[in-house]
Amino acid sequence: MPTLLKENKTQLNATRTSIADVPVSTFEGKRVLIRVDYNVPIIDGKIIDDERIVKSIPTLRYLIDAKAKIIIVSHLGRPKLKDPEFSLQLISKKLNDLLEIPIQFVSESIMESSIAQERSKNLSNGDILLLENIRYYEEETKNGDNLAISLSKLCDYFVQDAFGCVHRAHSSTSGITKYVPSFSGLLVDKELSVLGGLMETAEKPFISIIGGSKVSSKIQILDKLLTKVDTLMIGGGMSFTFLKALGYSIGLSVYEETYLDKALELIEYAKVNNKKIILPVDVVVADKFSNDAIKKTVKIDAIPDDMMGLDIGDVSTAMMANEIQNAKTVLWNGPMGVYEFSEFANGTNGIAHAMAECEGQTVIGGGDVVSACKQSGYIDKITYCSTGGGASLEFIQGKPLPGIEALSQSN
Ligand code: 3PG
Repeated sequence: MPTLLKENKTQLNATRTSIADVPVSTFEGKRVLIRVDYNVPIIDGKIIDDERIVKSIPTLRYLIDAKAKIIIVSHLGRPKLKDPEFSLQLISKKLNDLLEIPIQFVSESIMESSIAQERSKNLSNGDILLLENIRYYEEETKNGDNLAISLSKLCDYFVQDAFGCVHRAHSSTSGITKYVPSFSGLLVDKELSVLGGLMETAEKPFISIIGGSKVSSKIQILDKLLTKVDTLMIGGGMSFTFLKALGYSIGLSVYEETYLDKALELIEYAKVNNKKIILPVDVVVADKFSNDAIKKTVKIDAIPDDMMGLDIGDVSTAMMANEIQNAKTVLWNGPMGVYEFSEFANGTNGIAHAMAECEGQTVIGGGDVVSACKQSGYIDKITYCSTGGGASLEFIQGKPLPGIEALSQSN
């Protein structure tokens, strides 16, 4: 497996203070509230992918060893009011198994009752208290001050380790930093360092593969990446906007009318700046959006009017795999087709395989691609797997991240 990507330490240190930058004794006997991102997929009461929980463990261990009294806060999903389906109780069991220490859980409101306050004060060094889903409070996503103040009353220090949420300006990701000295955690440090390094010092040839259904949701990332990479490969539903813009007949495939000009603009930019944009040359088409659809593989100039493209074809997969093989750095975000349907997962699995075989540095981000790499058994061969979906895209685009900016304004 390739060694880790070059990191960008300058960026790491310029903007904030990490828990690793201060003496460990700072945290001894102190109540440290840590924001993590435990927004994990749960189906029928089972955690389907515990990656984000596992990746929070180094910071938790660091604070346990530092003899801190730890209070964990996270959101899960986008609950309406206090929908029990989104309770963090289940996560508490998982965390207990991973850390092999008992996790205390508080379901009571931190705004309407003093129970969480009392329990935080009764913690012994190294104990962990997990709060209930912070999005049970309407104030959270509005970055309400009252909630931020309630959280701050539970602790002496705040640690931001929820990389997946740093693009959100919420009470628990940003607002709280106004009220307590705040630090970044080890996961946030790592993510910013690796992804920052990728954009600044990636070895060439640098290739990016972008998939998913909509150009509109990834337009800024496409713009930004084209300035950095040598080759941009586009798959998934969004490739049909490009193909249609180039004059192909795409049948019933999804595309975005309002982005046709933008697609042509990107193609033109690539030409002028000596970059390659690679689009599929064949696609798997289906008569309906279903795993049991009638399907066939056709060249892109032969898509039937009454069928839709749901995956890239074998020739495209092989062509893209060949590019990946010769790359020194590869960044992949977004599946190549409707990989949730096994009949249309070949393209995504093929790219996952090529990433695993690549001798260069490989980075993936976004829940779909991470779970596709897991399902196909290649995840351990990927150099770096980011826990951020939207957050990693916004960081790569160079957008300000409220959950990080708030840290530099704190202390
Ligand atoms: C994510 O899964 O990308 C993060 O947990 C953020 O979740 P959100 O999009 O609901 O804010």
